[in-house]
Parts: sequence; structure tokens; C-alpha cells
Amino acid sequence: MLCEDIGFHLAQEFYWWNPSKLPTPAEWVTVRRIRVKDAVNCIWWLSPTPYPKASNKRVLQPYSDSMLDLLKNGYKAKRRPSGHDISSKFGVDNKAAIPPNLLAIANTESNSQYLRYCAAHGIKPHPARFPEELPEYFIRMLTNVDDLVIDPFAGSCVTGQVAEKLKRRWLCIDAEEEYLKGALGRFIDFPRTSSPSKSGVAGTYYKIPKPGLLWEPVGLEEPLPEDGGKKRPPKKKAAASQPPRSNVARATEEKRVLEQQTLFSLDIGPRE
Ligand SMILES: C[S@@+](CC[C@H](N)C(=O)[O-])C[C@H]1O[C@@H](n2cnc3c(N)ncnc32)[C@H](O)[C@@H]1O
Repeated sequence: MLCEDIGFHLAQEFYWWNPSKLPTPAEWVTVRRIRVKDAVNCIWWLSPTPYPKASNKRVLQPYSDSMLDLLKNGYKAKRRPSGHDISSKFGVDNKAAIPPNLLAIANTESNSQYLRYCAAHGIKPHPARFPEELPEYFIRMLTNVDDLVIDPFAGSCVTGQVAEKLKRRWLCIDAEEEYLKGALGRFIDFPRTSSPSKSGVAGTYYKIPKPGLLWEPVGLEEPLPEDGGKKRPPKKKAAASQPPRSNVARATEEKRVLEQQTLFSLDIGPRE
């Protein structure tokens, strides 16, 4: 509708992966075990023109270890098994990598100035805030200093806070006055300059296991529920000869399995 009726151009689709997302909907994910964790949100970058101003140079990220290795040890230009022809330009060190359209940002804010302000003023914090890095990514990639950023569904005004930090003009709108009252807490003694992250690159990468690492041998898989999970499964009794594992034993086992796993490292640049 947004494209066909209103005339927007879909410049690109992004996916925000929240690595800290809890397993929800719990009934389907952790009780009936018939769906996986819903941890990705779709973001549409829509534009009134087919060529909105933009630059991916604003959102570059560090090279992955394998790319650094390739740059160090060289790469022979050749056709890959997938059929893609990789030219010798692939081995040029551009100092940083162009990111994918997957943004890995944990939504873990729990002690911000905003929350403390809300608590101090008896205001219920907005229940669906997104992390600062999300608007920051797009504001950096798509706007210049002094450009106008508008968030018509602003909630706690995290977009306004980031726009202020990045020296853009901004306008935040929300139907609920209470949310905007809480948002004031974001702008009290607010530092006007952007300072680089103190944690550096460490702690800014997330790892996600490649599917298949724990797949059962064919024929030994637990049968699927014939009713598609319509009814709750009966609670399993712990086998008499096998007492339930303690949390420590379970954690140790999970750690052992994780250590054995080959993990994909997503290239997430240091957050500022
Ligand atoms: C998902 S929340 C946005 C949260 C925000 N991104 C943040 O991080 O705080 C969506 C907001 O849109 C507001 N909203 C919904 N319909 C609206 C409308 N017609 N006009 C203005 N605001 C609206 C809601 O009150 C809600 O605060």
C-alpha cells in the first residue's frame, strides 16, 4: 500500500536482530515448542524518490577475521563454487567493510537517565522503546548535520535524543502525552557532543551458531506433535534413574557444547 497507493519507493529492507530477545510468544516457544524465538524486526527504508541521499560509508564496520586473513595472505581471483566470479579487486584493503542489512543490537537498556527520570517523576516508562543505535544508524547514513529528522510515532523520543546528539534538527510526535512527559528526561543535562564508545570493539560482536550443530541423527528425532501443538503437551516426568540436572550441571554442559560449536561471527562495528 505504501508503495502502490502512496508512491513511496522501497529503497531497502533491513532486519533488526535483538540478540537479547526473550523467547516469546512463551506459550508457543517454550511450552508447546512449536515455534522458534521471534527475535527479528523488519525495517523498511522508504523514500519519495528513487534516489534518496545516502552513503554506506557512514556505517562501515571492521573487517571480519576471515577478511583480515585474506587481505594479509592474499587471494587468487577465481570463480567460486557458487558461480560468482571474484575479481582481484576483492583483495583490496578498503580499511572497513560494507555492512549487511542485518543490524544486531541488543535491547538491554535498564539504567538510563530516561528510566531514572521516569522513576523520579512517577511516570510509567514507554513499554516498547527501541535502542539508540537503531535510529542512529539511519540518521548517520541518510542525513547531514542540520537536516530535519521527524519521528511521528516517537514514544520516548529516543530518535530525538539521537538526532540532538548528532546535531540534526528534529521533531518528535506521539498521540500519548504521558510518553512525551517521560521523554523530557532524555534532554536534561544532555551532552551535546557525540563521544566514541569507551568499550571499544570488545563486547560489540555477537555470535550466532550455524544451524545443524546439534541436529539428531535421522530416525532418532523426537516425533512431531500430530495436532500441530493445538493441545499443550503433557508434562514429562523426570526418569527415576536420571535425577534432574542442576542448573550448574546444565550450564556446564551448555558451555561445553558452545565451546565445541563452530560459530559465525556477525560483523557488527563498534557502537558510538
Ligand atoms: C512502538 S512505539 C515507539 C517507541 C519509540 N520508538 C521509542 O523507542 O520510544 C509507537 C508509538 O506510536 C504512538 N502512536 C500510535 N498511533 C499514533 C498516531 N496515530 N499518532 C501519533 N502517535 C501514535 C504510540 O503512542 C506509541 O508511543
